[in-house]
Amino acid sequence: MDPYKRGPSSAFNSPFWTTNSGAPVWNNNSSLTVGARERIPERVVHARGASAKGFFETPPIVRFSTVIHERDSPETLRDPRGFAVKFYTREGNFDLVGNNFPVFFIRDGMKFPDMVHALKPNPKSHIQENWRILDFFSHHPESLHMFTFLFDDIGIPQDYRHMDGSGVHTYTLIDKAGKAHYVKFHWKPTCGVKNLLEDEAITVGGANHSHATQDLYDSIAAGNYPEWKVFIQVMDPADEDRFDFDPLDVTKTWPEDILPLQPVGRMVLSKNIDNFFAENEQLAFCPSVIVPGIYYSDYKLLQTRIFSYSDTQKHRLGPNYLQLPANAPKCVHHNNHHEGFMNFMHRDEEVNYFPSRFDPARHAEKYPIPTAICSGKRDKCIINIMPFWLRLRQERFVKRWIEALSDPRAKYEIRSIWISYWS
Ligand code: HEM
Repeated sequence: MDPYKRGPSSAFNSPFWTTNSGAPVWNNNSSLTVGARERIPERVVHARGASAKGFFETPPIVRFSTVIHERDSPETLRDPRGFAVKFYTREGNFDLVGNNFPVFFIRDGMKFPDMVHALKPNPKSHIQENWRILDFFSHHPESLHMFTFLFDDIGIPQDYRHMDGSGVHTYTLIDKAGKAHYVKFHWKPTCGVKNLLEDEAITVGGANHSHATQDLYDSIAAGNYPEWKVFIQVMDPADEDRFDFDPLDVTKTWPEDILPLQPVGRMVLSKNIDNFFAENEQLAFCPSVIVPGIYYSDYKLLQTRIFSYSDTQKHRLGPNYLQLPANAPKCVHHNNHHEGFMNFMHRDEEVNYFPSRFDPARHAEKYPIPTAICSGKRDKCIINIMPFWLRLRQERFVKRWIEALSDPRAKYEIRSIWISYWS
């Protein structure tokens, strides 16, 4: 037997695959690894969404979403809609991470995880249940204003093209001289706001559980570009204490008769994304991402959002998620961040520290940010309930509440609290 020749009498005649040293190979198709390599996990909230690109003064990418249910859930559920816009400006990205309603449920980020738990499916049955939602929010009457939107007809937008958008929070715009103005951002669709009533939602969602994603994609592909007028409301921070409510409070809107909507531009979505994974799943918006001339306001909930989004994105996408093409700035940029998991911005310079006489990059020109002296007692403050404005299409609104409160596990106490709130 010649061990080096193929043939019936050869040692090469093994009926199964072996290594060169003769050990049997049970799988010649897959490398031996520790654990399966998985795709990135879906977002904990706003998992179901669709994106598109277009133009403003600068190119934006926009992601619309529902909030509570999973990535492939129906787009016809009663749920707020996310309206997140990333502007790729010449001075870096600006993320305006808003919703379709101009207010929010809570005023303290501390309550966010419990709020999400109450709204998400029951951990035992994986079914979203009204009694859990009504129980949680019965402890939070500041949520009433948000519920007037959610249980109104606009609680189920017809699709993503026919809904408003709002930055919700108060931001600060600062001019070159350093003068600060409080602003709220608003998006109004030029084709009008349209909603689905319950029976329409059942028909639409029953036929196509991705109807809003499809509508967005098909409209853009057909050249019927979705378009929003962009407005701002402007307040002089000196007037902050002149209102009978806290103007920074996210459970309030600013009265339009006193602080009118001023048109500042138009956003048109004229280009579909090229790849859903790269331009929807890998997209990461964060309220901390701002550019010169735009600043935050000193509001608790916004301050929580500023750090929590990047925390989850480091977990969801990896520490270098800002280098992913959809999140990277389109302008030139330079700093000494380097290496680390999933880093693909490899560089060939030897100087990765600052300052250095070998690196010609200088500081950018200083731009103004609001100067403020913060003072006050460090405390866990309970925020008082303040008045809000009701906007109701009453009959259907009341019907929806009766239905929600009829959940057999929404016990007497929960029902009476809600009835007293609404009355
Ligand atoms: C997504 C946290 C309040 C709008 C998210 C995500 C987190 C989060 C962790 C997932 C991000 C990702 O995986 O990329 C919070 C916390 C809040 C809060 C802690 C309060 C303290 C709000 C408010 C709004 C909002 C007030 C609206 C003004 C959105 C939108 C998305 C989102 C639109 C989806 C962004 C996308 O399309 O990728 N939020 N959120 N959130 N949040 Fe919030």
